[in-house]
Amino acid sequence: APISETTDESRLFDGVDLPRLAERMGTPLHAYSASAIRQRIDELHAALHGLDALICYAVKANSNLAILQLMANAGVGADIVSVGELRRALHAGIPAERIVFSGVGKNADEIAGALNVGIQRFNVESHDELLTLQRVARAQDVVARAAVRINPDVDAQTHAKISTGKSENKFGVSIDEARRWFAERKSLSHVQLDGLHVHIGSQILSVEPFRLALQRVAAFWRELEQAGHPIRSIDVGGGLGVCYRAGVDQPVAAADYVAVIRAALAGYHGRLLLEPGRYLVAEAGVLLTRVIRVKPGEQRQFLVLDAAMNDLQRPSLYDAWHDIVPVIDEGRPVTTYDIVGPVCETGDTFARGRELPRCDAGDLLLIRATGAYGASMASTYNSRPLAAEVMVQNGRYAIVRRRQHFEEMIAGEQPARQWETA
Ligand code: LLP
Repeated sequence: APISETTDESRLFDGVDLPRLAERMGTPLHAYSASAIRQRIDELHAALHGLDALICYAVKANSNLAILQLMANAGVGADIVSVGELRRALHAGIPAERIVFSGVGKNADEIAGALNVGIQRFNVESHDELLTLQRVARAQDVVARAAVRINPDVDAQTHAKISTGKSENKFGVSIDEARRWFAERKSLSHVQLDGLHVHIGSQILSVEPFRLALQRVAAFWRELEQAGHPIRSIDVGGGLGVCYRAGVDQPVAAADYVAVIRAALAGYHGRLLLEPGRYLVAEAGVLLTRVIRVKPGEQRQFLVLDAAMNDLQRPSLYDAWHDIVPVIDEGRPVTTYDIVGPVCETGDTFARGRELPRCDAGDLLLIRATGAYGASMASTYNSRPLAAEVMVQNGRYAIVRRRQHFEEMIAGEQPARQWETA
């Protein structure tokens, strides 16, 4: 194999030297480029130019406070699905009037908490939730702004576990049901039902599913306007895909996505909400990990990393591909590996039969595009502490989550000492 020069580029991440970062912080380590996130926000803002639009970042994608703070400073709001996310968003300085609340399982307490701080809007997903919202708002003597989440019965052409817009999915309600809600709108004294919401799935790599869903929503919006139901807010959800596999995945450009929104909603002059999660943060993140050992097997060579499925669940959960590259490639010959973590199950596999320059114990690798649904889905399975997280920018880094201590991991647990009857 040809011997290539070690390039500075493979050592650097937003200007920070990765081997030195690994020395100082230890591995596995999640690193996020603030510059890359800002660039995505700017791209989307530029595409939305001239529209009355608000980006409400889907907090679940990466809920680290530093990321939320960056969003707040860029004028981005939040799409939340729990009181925990609400508190994070407020804590990071995202104003309540820029927060929308989605999810099929909001309970009365959560609704009360969100109403109490005055969030912008509830994306309501069932009739029971609508009635709960009315009851809780009435008890607080406030009027809740609500949008109905439409299930447009569209195939997002993505992984089944992250597809949400088919009628067989638990999300939203049919246009027929939504029509009945609007018909009884005036009987809801404490709910202002004047919005539509749609979110058909995640990691969508073509504009067609978006176009189809938005056309259905737009037709319904026109019908509602004619029937005397003003629509002041249309929330087009998230779902924009990113590149996980260089040279294969071809994401939709922000401008093309927004062009589809502009075309479908032509003539609409209310507020437009967007809920991107992955698009803003996925490619800005890497998971830095070290090879613990190379284990030759009967059939295959295993590369055992110090990162595992508890740090990044996507490969085990969705068979997701993530590019994996050595930090320093000194032109070693290409070898085929199964790349695995130390966790005690076969599903703890990042890649099967992956070609990489030959690796040795101690080598540093990058798992790419881990900024979304990486740390936010992490667990302490196998009693592995949550990994540290750093924000990186122009050659410097800041710790935004220190590595979890053992004491923190077991905090709240105790021996069964005191027995009581329920
Ligand atoms: N809005 C709603 C109502 C959502 O349910 C979601 C994501 C988003 C916005 C943001 O979608 P995004 O722009 O990030 O595609 N854990 C999975 C992804 C689950 C997405 C859940 N909902 C994964 O790692 O692929």
